Amino acid sequence: MPTTLILGATSAMAEQTARLLAADGDKLVLAARDPQALEILAADLKVRGATDVHVLTPFDATQSGSFEDLLNEAGDFDRALIAYGSLPDQEALKNDPAGIRREMCINFGSVIDLSSRIASRFESKGQGTLAVISSVAGLRGRQSNYIYGSAKGGVILFLQGLRNRLQDHGVRVITLLPGFVDTPMTAEMKKGPLFVSSAKAGTCIHKALTRGKGDVVYVPGFWRFIMWIIRALPEPIFKRLKL
Ligand SMILES: NC(=O)c1ccc[n+]([C@@H]2O[C@H](COP(=O)([O-])OP(=O)(O)OC[C@H]3O[C@@H](n4cnc5c(N)ncnc54)[C@H](OP(=O)(O)O)[C@@H]3O)[C@@H](O)[C@H]2O)c1
Repeated sequence: MPTTLILGATSAMAEQTARLLAADGDKLVLAARDPQALEILAADLKVRGATDVHVLTPFDATQSGSFEDLLNEAGDFDRALIAYGSLPDQEALKNDPAGIRREMCINFGSVIDLSSRIASRFESKGQGTLAVISSVAGLRGRQSNYIYGSAKGGVILFLQGLRNRLQDHGVRVITLLPGFVDTPMTAEMKKGPLFVSSAKAGTCIHKALTRGKGDVVYVPGFWRFIMWIIRALPEPIFKRLKL
């Protein structure tokens, strides 16, 4: 059975993905900040059919000094899903450079650091699948969330280059681009028709990890069409929309 490492395993989308991997009988290696929530999740995933569930030492994305030890503790794995993230209050953060730096560290710096380390491991093995949750917010800068969006956009470009580099080395690199998903991260937002459940997102991510062939996977797929339009809008028109 394949072994999947999930970083940020307590995120709602990761949890739903992990349930489906558990039902497949996979082995799971889980890391997150909150050890208690992680133990509860691990027990649940065992009941759902996971062949083995291993919980790692608590992991905080701002503590890059611990990343190599964390991956060593994870041992050998076939797939990795990077799922954690932070959606800051753009208004509160816009005049707070230290806060912006912190958010960039969580949503960009730590993600590319871990992706690089995981990619090197897969490259030397000659196989592996790395999937990273970015966001459609990373595809166009908007006044309402360009701090979060630029971090996610940086991840998209980084993964694109990494995928290019590793294409002949047996390593698959998947960029996951969710739209609006109903999770604790979006709890404060008014839920419109474009929102989907974390279960729906988990189904898309599970499919991408286990069966899909796509490099860039919209979660769910209709966002490909929406973002095609949004990206095509000329800058003078987009500016006037004040999104
Ligand atoms: N929800 C959406 O509409 C949406 C849309 C596009 C992309 N995304 C992305 O999807 C991913 C999953 O988010 P979600 O929607 O499932 O939200 P969520 O349930 O709120 O999960 C966020 C996760 O990130 C973890 N986290 C935050 N800061 C961390 C840090 N410094 N170190 C380690 N872990 C940290 C949280 O841990 P704690 O539980 O300990 O706080 C939590 O497990 C994120 O990358 C998010 O940016 C979400």
